[in-house]
Amino acid sequence: MSTSEGHLIFDGCDTVELAREYGTPLYVVSEATIRARIAEIKSAFLEKRPGSRAAFASKAFQTLDMCRIAASEGLYLDVVSGGEIHAALRAGFDPARMYFHGNAKTERELHMALELGVGRVVVDNLDELRALNGIALGIGKRQPILFRITPGVDSHTHQYIDTGRIDSKFGIPLDPSVRGEYIGAALGMGGVELKGFHFHVGSQLLENDSHLKAVAIAIGFIAEVKRDFGFEATELNLGGGFGVRYTEADRPKGLAYYTDAMCDAVDALCREKCLAVPSLAIEPGRWIVGEAGITLYGVASVKEIPGIRSYVAVDGGMTDNPRPALYGAKYEAVLANKQGLPAAGKYTIAGKCCETGDIIARDIALPAPEPGDILAVFATGAYNYTMASNYNRTPRPALVMTNAGKRRLSVRRESYDDLIAREI
Ligand SMILES: Cc1ncc(COP(=O)(O)O)c(C=O)c1O
Repeated sequence: MSTSEGHLIFDGCDTVELAREYGTPLYVVSEATIRARIAEIKSAFLEKRPGSRAAFASKAFQTLDMCRIAASEGLYLDVVSGGEIHAALRAGFDPARMYFHGNAKTERELHMALELGVGRVVVDNLDELRALNGIALGIGKRQPILFRITPGVDSHTHQYIDTGRIDSKFGIPLDPSVRGEYIGAALGMGGVELKGFHFHVGSQLLENDSHLKAVAIAIGFIAEVKRDFGFEATELNLGGGFGVRYTEADRPKGLAYYTDAMCDAVDALCREKCLAVPSLAIEPGRWIVGEAGITLYGVASVKEIPGIRSYVAVDGGMTDNPRPALYGAKYEAVLANKQGLPAAGKYTIAGKCCETGDIIARDIALPAPEPGDILAVFATGAYNYTMASNYNRTPRPALVMTNAGKRRLSVRRESYDDLIAREI
């Protein structure tokens, strides 16, 4: 990020010009940053550990362009719905390189996945296992699966994105009284082929301790399964969750901080427990795209409540970024057309939705804002575009991809007619 003549420059592009050309609100996502992150995945993990895999978690940011980038870089893809599978296919993504997740996969989705030849189904529960087995037998396939396990680790993140605790809707519980049921069932089924296990401890984790605790639990579990069932896992998927910088308070470390420590722990624990080392996979979403995106808004109004606070209202809000309302997520912002001007005070950025909680950021120091200014909110690349809604009949923003000074429209803005297109 830099400035030129008072304008914010993002990935070599003048953000004020982008706002003028494509309108606001506007998602701007840097392909250069995404590819740089993937290069780090290669050097910090894949190249150090032959046979390992990295998948991009579609839920963080799935567009056709993003699927093409992931495919061109040799990544695998984490998908969680028929819709994500369909979009990835349309982008030309090889289904054999997909991990199909989810705690409530429908029969229709399972059929689709099996018929297309999705590489791994990550099974969440016994009902899904039985349904999958039935479908696979019906079409004469043996589907490779992983079980998602719930390691029971408290990941010190917001409870809605803390997915690895024992009381979680995701994954099979490791309680000895029930886990045997899952493993025994899978090993006795002709339609599935158990390859190993998967965990995902939570999201936006800036420390590696939760991942390491989960590795210890997973390897202990693999050893017990070997002892009790004679089955030795050949694959272990370590999930995503690696933290990024949203505000100055966040101090993310490089990917190797997580992956080196997890790989070392896997190697040491397997040695100790006389296990063959399983091939490892990671599946980051936010870490690849979070800092690659910004959102540009037009300032609609500025309102001072004397002695209390000043609101800057913008032309988007929780419809394009629900994270502050959902998780209390924090963001930083600047006036893209007033770079270099001194701050005139602290402002709270309000969205345009009819919800008091539609606040994008609080107490942000800005130069005196006026209607027509362009506000840039940083680190909106993950879980914004994919979580956007049409609340208040708000059309979803356009999305522009930049790459070292070049830009192209990747997703067009929704029209008012798009908003009623499905209504009869
Ligand atoms: C199974 C699974 N894998 C990967 C991810 C990606 O997480 P993140 O974007 O934090 O890396 C998630 C997020 O919820 C997940 O549930």
